[in-house]
Amino acid sequence: MVAASRRFIPLWLLAAGLFGGLAGEPSIFSLYAQDYPPDRARGKAVYERHCQNCHGSSGRGDGPTAASLKVPPTNFQRFQSFLKSDEELLRTIEHGVVFSPMHSWRGRLTDGEMQDVVAYIRLLSQRGQ
Ligand code: HEC
Repeated sequence: MVAASRRFIPLWLLAAGLFGGLAGEPSIFSLYAQDYPPDRARGKAVYERHCQNCHGSSGRGDGPTAASLKVPPTNFQRFQSFLKSDEELLRTIEHGVVFSPMHSWRGRLTDGEMQDVVAYIRLLSQRGQ
């Protein structure tokens, strides 16, 4: 009995150690959380590639594609956008806006890219104030 429990204790410790090791692994548990601060430079690159055509280079909603859209892209420099929280903007980017050309970016951008692009939009919206 004593011998058995002696054999079990190290096994438990080993299991705990393994689990702890996995939790520290960036690939599995941090998929939904970015553990570094949003990066505006990276956000700018994402913006220029995916958003600028509609929202415009300065975020005024005047990109080259904007004229052909029924629903005009948001002008991030307007006060209404400026007042929105990062979470609100992030939610719109993640899920899109129904009945508008603004589709969901979930699956096209990583969580980190979405947070970075919000940081960049924030910068654009502050420029308008
Ligand atoms: C095809 C054109 C198009 C593209 C590309 C596009 N958007 Fe939009 N976006 C829109 C339109 C149109 C709206 C406004 C929808 C409405 O008000 O009904 C909008 C709204 C938004 C809003 C909501 C703003 C607010 O104040 O509520 C955010 C945030 C946003 N877009 C971010 C992005 C980001 C980030 C990208 C690139 C990853 C992007 N958009 C790419 C057309 C586009």
